[in-house]
Amino acid sequence: MTQTPAARATSDGANTLYGGTGTRSARRVTVRDIGAAKERGEKWPMLTAYDAMTASVFDEAGIPVLLVGDSMGNCHLGFDTTVPVTMDHMTMLAAAVVRGTSRALIVGDLTFGSYQEGPVQALRSATRLVKEAGVGAVKLEGGERSLRQTEAIVQAGIPVMAHLGLTPQSVNTMGYRVQGRGDEAAHRLVSDAKAAQDAGAFAVVLELVPAELAAEVTRSLEIPTIGIGAGPDTDAQVLVWTDMAGLTGGKVPRFTKQYASLRQTLGDAAKAFADDVAGAAFPAPEHTFH
Ligand code: KIV
Repeated sequence: MTQTPAARATSDGANTLYGGTGTRSARRVTVRDIGAAKERGEKWPMLTAYDAMTASVFDEAGIPVLLVGDSMGNCHLGFDTTVPVTMDHMTMLAAAVVRGTSRALIVGDLTFGSYQEGPVQALRSATRLVKEAGVGAVKLEGGERSLRQTEAIVQAGIPVMAHLGLTPQSVNTMGYRVQGRGDEAAHRLVSDAKAAQDAGAFAVVLELVPAELAAEVTRSLEIPTIGIGAGPDTDAQVLVWTDMAGLTGGKVPRFTKQYASLRQTLGDAAKAFADDVAGAAFPAPEHTFH
């Protein structure tokens, strides 16, 4: 069996999240492993996942952290934004991703309206996701504004990933544009990131912020930063899987790199099947029982 880079044995025996020279442990990745990777200066990848089968492919590829993002609204459920996604949607799909994986740390998003009321509501939503779906951590948007929520969830023993910069649940006030430009906005982002760290977050997603600012936040935090449209200097990088694999239709964001053309491949497969059926070439004798 071919080993992923992450599974290759090493000289120093240290566990790595992905690739590098360490060994890969068979157990699930934990938030402590994530912290240790920052100490080693190891960069690592994160992808979104919304179903068991796709998640199993990414798990076998050695992706150490999978995010069941509320981007499922746009990428899986047919909504225009993440705003309509509910905790019922999230819990069902996160449970599927957990079932499809054995190694990756699974992080589930707290959906819009499931934590903004305050710490009690936030803790209830996070607890549901851990108990019913089996995720290892939750993610919520905001630094200072979600401070009490982050503290309450962390104190209950549930790891929290923060999300700063462009926070898509605020699309109706923020729009989709680069955040943190200008001194005041940059200062606010740095202090939001420190607030999230002080509240106990184990990592921070930085979405659509200038590369220099993301680098500064990364240097000033002890916890890892995970960039999306935030330049090359964050500790980790995340992409929405349908963008990464070329399944998303229409225009994809400039910060995305497409590593495959799944939309074309799937469309071609569907047409080939349809042509075979129309031309009576499928099913053939080898697909037929007597
Ligand atoms: O929901 C999501 O997919 C996300 C990533 C873009 C970080 O929050």
